[in-house]
Amino acid sequence: MRVVLLGTAAGGGCPQWNCACALCTAGLEPRTQDCVAVSADGAGWYLLNCSPDIRAQILGTPALRAGPGPRETPVRGVLLTDAELDHSLGLLMLREGGGLPVSAPETVLHGLSPLRAILDGYGSSAWTSTFDVPGLRVSVLPVSDKKPKYVSSTQDGPWVVAYRIEDPATGGVLVYAPCLKSWPPGFDAFVADANLVLLDGTFYAPDEMAGVGGPDQLAMGHLPITTSLARIAAHPGPRWAFTHINNTNPALDPASPEHAAVRASGASLPPDGTEYTL
Ligand code: MLT
Ligand code: MN
Ligand code: ZN
Repeated sequence: MRVVLLGTAAGGGCPQWNCACALCTAGLEPRTQDCVAVSADGAGWYLLNCSPDIRAQILGTPALRAGPGPRETPVRGVLLTDAELDHSLGLLMLREGGGLPVSAPETVLHGLSPLRAILDGYGSSAWTSTFDVPGLRVSVLPVSDKKPKYVSSTQDGPWVVAYRIEDPATGGVLVYAPCLKSWPPGFDAFVADANLVLLDGTFYAPDEMAGVGGPDQLAMGHLPITTSLARIAAHPGPRWAFTHINNTNPALDPASPEHAAVRASGASLPPDGTEYTL
């Protein structure tokens, strides 16, 4: 199985257009919004989430570029972990490929109703709550009841899931969990045999948004890296990498003590474009 990290930043990316904080103006390597591509055979690819940056992410990744026919694309479908705009707005950018299958939990499909109504005008997308990726084995774990701000529905969650994707041919296992409100029940077993776990790295510390006068960080539903690092220490097996990193996260700076603490725990903060073969 091939895995490409198309984008590794949280909503807004890094730098964020309306932010002049120390990190956004530090000249760090830019990061686009969280999105992953996976493939069993290197020919057909599935997107895990679909960021607003998807056009540039596809054009910047040779394996995802159109061809060989004039209107052929190796992008076969999308699996969403949640209905947040940074994970779903890219579907609007892919409207030229009407009919792209999109898999997401029922709640997420319900939350996305406004976006689906727009997209259905451009060709009937196939919306489903079954999760089939040819050549790979997909399992789904509900991880959070945090719903997007724009959703007024009172429908119970789960509003966020994590994916475990296994290649039966190689035994390679990827877990993708970019939005975790807590270390959820069942997560230890879900990641037990993973070769790579992509983990919510939105915030380093629990009070980070205070520095930019941001919204209530707890209500945003992202457990800080400081909490995850304690759990990682108990699981030396999997390879851990943080993604969906917010532009307030000091670990973005490779020279920071926070970055060093992540590395010392055996985890990484891979940049956009990082590829893995599992
Ligand atoms: C989140 O991950 O909490 C959301 O994407 C926040 C946002 O609206 O950008
Ligand atoms: Mn997000
Ligand atoms: Zn900033």
